[in-house]
Amino acid sequence: MKILIAYGSTEGQTRKVVNAIAKQIKELGHEAKKFDTSDLLGELHPNSFDRIIVAGSVHEKMHQESLEFFVVAHREQLKTGPALFISISLAAAFANGMADAQGYVDHFSKNTGWHPQKSLMLAGALRHGEYGLFKEHILEHIVLKGRDLEDPASDHEFTDWERLSLDIDEFIAS
Ligand SMILES: Cc1cc2nc3c(=O)[nH]c(=O)nc-3n(C[C@H](O)[C@H](O)[C@H](O)COP(=O)(O)O)c2cc1C
Repeated sequence: MKILIAYGSTEGQTRKVVNAIAKQIKELGHEAKKFDTSDLLGELHPNSFDRIIVAGSVHEKMHQESLEFFVVAHREQLKTGPALFISISLAAAFANGMADAQGYVDHFSKNTGWHPQKSLMLAGALRHGEYGLFKEHILEHIVLKGRDLEDPASDHEFTDWERLSLDIDEFIAS
């Protein structure tokens, strides 16, 4: 089976998730093709794949614009074939953030006209080395506001790798 993983990643966590998924798919004996939707020169024929995974991260409540463009361009195929949407955010790391995480997915669906059969809301990471003052400000005053985090000045990886692996197994087997 040939599986396409189209993704957008701003600071690298989604890319790390995509690399883990590609490794798992290969270990299951299938072929995985990664496609960074910001790569405007990359050539791609999505209809030559058996399954498609679309993965992106949330910044200021929105997924990457290039990911939205990709989905709009290939919407008909995404609607008919087996496809999985993975939305990575910090909201998904907190019990009181799940409604926000769902809101980001709903907003993406509304913008693109694609309502995935299955969506996975996955917690991302905090990587202070990747941010300048502006991003730090947004994180501290908007994204992490009202969310209890011990030592917010340190890097954190919240991604639940075990759950991701189980969901990928299920998607491949479906
Ligand atoms: C400037 C900035 C804005 C962010 N905005 C949001 C947000 O609105 N909601 C949220 O849940 N997470 C937000 N995040 C957290 C990211 O979704 C999280 O760090 C994710 O792991 C980033 O994935 P990436 O490295 O693949 O881009 C934001 C992060 C940054 C740096």
